[in-house]
Amino acid sequence: MKTIAPTSTQYEPGAQVSGDVIPLCVPEIHGNEWKYIKECLDTNWVSSVGSYVTRFECELADYIGTQYAIAMSSGTTALHIALLVSGVQPDDEVLVPTLTFIAPANAIRYAQAWPVFIDVEPDYWQIDPQHISDFLEKECRWQNGELRNKTTGHRVKAIIPVDLLGHPVDMLPIVETARKYNLSIIEDSTESLGAKYRGERLGNHADIACFSFNGNKIITTGGGGMLTTNNETWARKARYLTTQAKDDPLEYIHNEVGYNYRMTNLLAALGCAQLEQLENYIAAKRRIAATYKAALSAVQGIDPMPEADWAYSIYWMYTVLVDADKYGMDSRTLLARLREVGILSRPLWQPMHRSPAHRNLPCYGGAVADRLNRDALSLPCSVGLTEAQQERVIEVLQNGVL
Ligand SMILES: Cc1ncc(COP(=O)(O)O)c(C=O)c1O
Repeated sequence: MKTIAPTSTQYEPGAQVSGDVIPLCVPEIHGNEWKYIKECLDTNWVSSVGSYVTRFECELADYIGTQYAIAMSSGTTALHIALLVSGVQPDDEVLVPTLTFIAPANAIRYAQAWPVFIDVEPDYWQIDPQHISDFLEKECRWQNGELRNKTTGHRVKAIIPVDLLGHPVDMLPIVETARKYNLSIIEDSTESLGAKYRGERLGNHADIACFSFNGNKIITTGGGGMLTTNNETWARKARYLTTQAKDDPLEYIHNEVGYNYRMTNLLAALGCAQLEQLENYIAAKRRIAATYKAALSAVQGIDPMPEADWAYSIYWMYTVLVDADKYGMDSRTLLARLREVGILSRPLWQPMHRSPAHRNLPCYGGAVADRLNRDALSLPCSVGLTEAQQERVIEVLQNGVL
């Protein structure tokens, strides 16, 4: 048998590493994970029906403060389903930040709709509410009761604000704009479970929110996602669509094309155990962020990660900006040098308006995303990062990598 090597760049940032290497962001598995998974194996409840699926959904809904939570196979599938249940149709347009991991842009294409990329703001690196409002005001017009892009003629239907890197988007102005233009808000909180906006947990400010439990997220099920909402019709539809749209389970009658997108009981068991530890993990992330901020604020050319005064960030991925002129080397040179001394770091994503996968799609602004893509570097920030490891990272950054 032949194996196909994974297509990888220089390294896999989330991968477990051995020896003295300090990883970027790896899972923390020290609670009831083994116990709950063993229970699934012992009782034969391993697949997509089982008490842990229901329990994980109920506990996550309680934690967020929404009425419904539907467990899925990934954050990406949660986004896809969120678009479908909120009424996004083929050829509709959906606003999304150009600076993001590619998943929400891809999910829009799975729904056969079109992303409209919007630049992020420079202060907290999140989708710019003013750009959203300007785009809708200047580039769109009402036609027969529907909002349409003047250039493409497509209907504009939804916004996906993405809470990047553990920090919330400034939602109030976005909610106001969405109400004015009758748009749904699907919040991509996949990177920010537990973060708060104006004192309330993310997931409460949008029509639907999506979370991810991918391996590098604050809690993990290996792979998994959750859709949360207060809309009962949408919640029912989401459950229906993710279980192959089964109308008669005995006779196998399906009135629609559905998806096999449910989370398995095995993975939900992992999720329940991880959720028990979430608040401790957030405290650890915030401690790591405070230590970086205190030490790196004094380093010429390194800007620590921001937090708005209306935000409670979970600092999922601790990221700094490197000013090449002031620091003496650019972010990519620093990345390479850090790697030479066994410290893994990572740049932010290629902005979507530069992505070959989404070429020729419009972008409103883009200069801020380009600058962040050039200068940003994410530093080791696993929940289990030891004091000694963090001191080592800080020492190396302070000395300009000796
Ligand atoms: C912003 C964003 N959206 C969506 C996803 C997709 O989540 P998943 O990997 O669980 O499909 C991720 C991360 O993986 C992400 O960072």
